[in-house]
Amino acid sequence: MEVKFVLNHMDIVVNARPDEYLAETLRNLGILSVRVGCNESNCGTCTVLINDKPAMSCSVLTAQVEGKKVTTVEDIQEEANKIADYFSDEGADQCGFCLVGFALVVHALTKEYKDPTDEEIRNYLVGNLCRCSGYHAQFLAVKKYLAEVKKHA
Ligand code: FES
Ligand code: FES
Repeated sequence: MEVKFVLNHMDIVVNARPDEYLAETLRNLGILSVRVGCNESNCGTCTVLINDKPAMSCSVLTAQVEGKKVTTVEDIQEEANKIADYFSDEGADQCGFCLVGFALVVHALTKEYKDPTDEEIRNYLVGNLCRCSGYHAQFLAVKKYLAEVKKHA
């Protein structure tokens, strides 16, 4: 089936099976930043933004993004690098497998909340798992990054 959507500001058309998930479609398009970990909506490594909201691309059918806007980390590379630096400074990155998903979620968080509470931050990050580091370091990294964003808003 033909599916049209906007990927990182580009109009694209793909031929996808009715049972094809977005993660597979994106990787077939060469978007290898989309990483499949658990493949069952549990880890968040496959996170993309659909109409600016985080979504797990392993559990969204490609047909469901018809007419929508899909954003991957390639579109926010500069910001993702900055977020990665904050993670690194807090010792919150080790293998780095989870970082793409976190960068997209943190980006979406900055757009949705001007001044999120600690609880709102934690709730926003809850779907993204990290097998290596403790979540406290990541939380601190995100808090510091958000403070920096706020300073320049
Ligand atoms: S690979 Fe999609 S949530 Fe884990
Ligand atoms: S740093 Fe390895 S999974 Fe997060």
